[in-house]
Amino acid sequence: MNIMTNSHILVHEFTYLEPQTVAEAIDLLAAHGDAARVLAGGTDLIVQMKMERLKPGYVIGIGRLTELKGIKHGPAVETVHSPAVETAATVAKSACADSLSIGASVGAHGRPAVETAATVAKSASADSLSIGALTSIREIARNATVRRHYTALAEACAAFSTVQVQVMGTLGGNLCNGSPASDSAPALIALGAEVVLLGPDGETRLPVERFFLGPGKTARRPDQLLTAIEIPQPAPNSGSAFLKVGRVAADIAKVNAAASIVRDGDRVADCRLAFGSVAPTPIRTPKAEAVLRGQVLTPELITQAAAVAAEEVSPIDDVRSTAAYRRKVVAALTVDAISRAWERAANGESANQRISEWRSADAQASNPQVGGNGRHATHAQDITHHASRTVALPHHRTIRLTVNGVRRRLQVADNDLLLNVLRDDLELTGTKYGCGIGECGACTVLMDGQPVLACLVLAAAADGANIRTVEGLAAPDGTLDPLQEAFLDYAALQCGFCTPGMLMTAKHLLEENPHPTEADVREHLRGNMCRCTGYAAIVRAVLAAANGE
Ligand SMILES: Cc1cc2nc3c(=O)[nH]c(=O)nc-3n(C[C@H](O)[C@H](O)[C@H](O)COP(=O)(O)OP(=O)(O)OC[C@H]3O[C@@H](n4cnc5c(N)ncnc54)[C@H](O)[C@@H]3O)c2cc1C
Ligand code: FES
Ligand code: FES
Repeated sequence: MNIMTNSHILVHEFTYLEPQTVAEAIDLLAAHGDAARVLAGGTDLIVQMKMERLKPGYVIGIGRLTELKGIKHGPAVETVHSPAVETAATVAKSACADSLSIGASVGAHGRPAVETAATVAKSASADSLSIGALTSIREIARNATVRRHYTALAEACAAFSTVQVQVMGTLGGNLCNGSPASDSAPALIALGAEVVLLGPDGETRLPVERFFLGPGKTARRPDQLLTAIEIPQPAPNSGSAFLKVGRVAADIAKVNAAASIVRDGDRVADCRLAFGSVAPTPIRTPKAEAVLRGQVLTPELITQAAAVAAEEVSPIDDVRSTAAYRRKVVAALTVDAISRAWERAANGESANQRISEWRSADAQASNPQVGGNGRHATHAQDITHHASRTVALPHHRTIRLTVNGVRRRLQVADNDLLLNVLRDDLELTGTKYGCGIGECGACTVLMDGQPVLACLVLAAAADGANIRTVEGLAAPDGTLDPLQEAFLDYAALQCGFCTPGMLMTAKHLLEENPHPTEADVREHLRGNMCRCTGYAAIVRAVLAAANGE
């Protein structure tokens, strides 16, 4: 394993490619194979590249493929409007195994249609939930339908790291990263979800539990894009739950667990149990499930199933925990996950709720992308910058950013990071470099209204974005923002190193939720580390700003 050398920059050079359609993305993947890596939110990929564990020759940024974003009912094929997918759908409808005729814009990859595309499309229900691979973890955690009917997944996404990582990280990235500790995987496995993969030879579907092959290894071929995750409609009288134990709230799991249960009165009609961080891949525990299936549920039965689950897993000792402790946690989480899922199944909500009602619930739910400013300049001032650090690099381009209301045109290298462009080219040094790998929050800025970690954002991928840094908080006449005033009044800083990131995350909170509770403030700021003030004064300051004090 390489030792991390410098998390400040991406030392390795690569060509950044940005397809405008799904078909173009497939073409690029087919052309570059293993030399290319897909970039979604970058919270895994950029970290691995900084650690020099990965050195792709091509980085394919899929962030602009809006058809891969969002949550809707019905088979995934409806969500993706590319010639390739339409062809796959057509083939599936006619259940014909003829070759796929993929349009010119997709490239000449016509090959025999994969059988799975036809087979599964037949079984794909209009009532299943389709989540685009690029949908952010935060959007899923806040979606009304997911929270109510696919509760284990909403809980898994809410348990995920920090607000910034939830905003940047995507569901597709979480699965394709292939981590045994993925939070979404056990929930998706418990809910019976499938991944939808699209390649030059059409569409393939696979149950999530078969997608994982080993640490960092999945069944996705290098020429395939994960386009969506489909979850079947929950059975009547069913419920689900997810639980996680980590070293701290914002950490990846020592152990995570998900359960889904279908009730038939006092009996367990069906159930699925899944765990993460206790085997080389996220796993199901079929023996523990068998203990429950068909039985009247009693506390003794739950304890028995928990003991069997603890035997079925194969954890290891590592930096986060010991194998022995993990087994104990598996037993404890199994009891709690089964109990919660059982209780939720008793409410019978999944059975009674009509799909149309779900849709209207979502329509009424607040927009998760609150604060999105759109990519519009507020000041018609155009300033061109040349990145002196990067002139020698071969792959560079011109990008446009609106930073604190001022339009900027910048020359950046493909491996430049937003943080360095802000600090070095624009001399906006308020935004700090702390850890460089997404863990401290010191580099938090608002990008299109959402808090992101500038140390993990490729400058090229931010082209067209509206960026707000701490320098943009005060009014043009220098009057401080009420949050800044409150930080001063409540002595919420000492050295001040964490303060810009803390302020930007708190600003996002107050824009999204003007009247937060103390718990809301602590939850929202959990990704911002302060090494000298402590958090009490910071929390008081944010609450005071919210109350206009
Ligand atoms: C500080 C920190 C905390 C974290 N905490 C958690 C946590 O609590 N729980 C957890 O589960 N994870 C956690 N992670 C890991 C990471 O945030 C998640 O795995 C996230 O969902 C990855 O999504 P992404 O869009 O950022 O993926 P990226 O980094 O963009 O991509 C990840 C991998 O998937 C591939 N990929 C991405 N999208 C596709 C696609 N559509 N088709 C094909 N390949 C694709 C990429 O090439 C890459 O190999 C954490 C990461 C950091 C830095
Ligand atoms: S410097 Fe970006 S999170 Fe630490
Ligand atoms: S004030 Fe010093 S790190 Fe927070």
